[in-house]
Amino acid sequence: MNKLVSLFCIFMVLGASYAQQPTKPAVSTDLVCSPCIEFMTNSINDVFKYIVDAGVVGSCGKVCSLLPNQDEAGACDFLCMIVGVKGFMKIFAMEDPDPILMCNELKLCPTASNPNATINVVDVPSSAQQGETITIGMNYDVVTPIGTSQIAVNIQDPKGNVFGGVELLINPSVGPSPFDFQFQATPSKNEPFMPGVYNVQIDICYGTCGSVHKEFKTLATQYANFTLTPGPHTTGSSGTPTGSGSGSGSGSSSGNGYYFY
Ligand SMILES: *[C@@H]1O[C@H](CO)[C@@H](O)[C@H](O)[C@H]1NC(C)=O
Ligand SMILES: *[C@@H]1O[C@H](CO)[C@@H](O)[C@H](O)[C@H]1NC(C)=O
Repeated sequence: MNKLVSLFCIFMVLGASYAQQPTKPAVSTDLVCSPCIEFMTNSINDVFKYIVDAGVVGSCGKVCSLLPNQDEAGACDFLCMIVGVKGFMKIFAMEDPDPILMCNELKLCPTASNPNATINVVDVPSSAQQGETITIGMNYDVVTPIGTSQIAVNIQDPKGNVFGGVELLINPSVGPSPFDFQFQATPSKNEPFMPGVYNVQIDICYGTCGSVHKEFKTLATQYANFTLTPGPHTTGSSGTPTGSGSGSGSGSSSGNGYYFY
């Protein structure tokens, strides 16, 4: 196996459509699941630093007001008030803290007892030129409800560097849905985009892809590849990759839209 090198920082931006809402779980998770995952992803270090490690106990208002960032404190208060300060603080004792699992356990995100999804179509150009925008298209099929889940796209360049993105799916509707991941393959210092064969792996997972937690699992995996050919060496930025999930479910960006292996 290649040595894994952190190299690319690629964000996915979701064009979330709220037009078709899936069946709602008992707890209305639409308004709280995504903020919860965002908070657990972005603010956990501050929660440890200013509250848990400091050994502070007290009301939601008291513990949350210790967070230095106003938005963070506000989100903390909002989530803590819903679940109660005891349950809220208990979640930070989790081993290998995982944002989706934490929010599942707080009952702020939908879970699924028998999740099943498949990836039916992966559409990747057989070759593309440096500088071009490359679209990795796919169609996934939610067979039975999959609760809070992820699509992870990982692309390995010819030298073994891996980049990609992760999309959070919150209760996507049962049935087929398209999903695209796009990036511009313009070489730069940090993103060499050298010519050669790029291997693509797409996973759809119940919970967090690649998680150590036994509650979670990979539901389906597909592979593809494309060849990048030399192109005009343009200068300037390599552009912002975007992912566009479409339609089903209230998808939303996890706020941690890149993955380094
Ligand atoms: C998931 O659904 C597919 C399509 O119906 C089926 O072939 C497969 O066996 C199911 N997988 C599991 C683990 O139930
Ligand atoms: C790329 O994908 C094609 C079609 O799926 C496959 O036949 C080929 O072996 C793959 N090449 C590499 C280098 O993985």
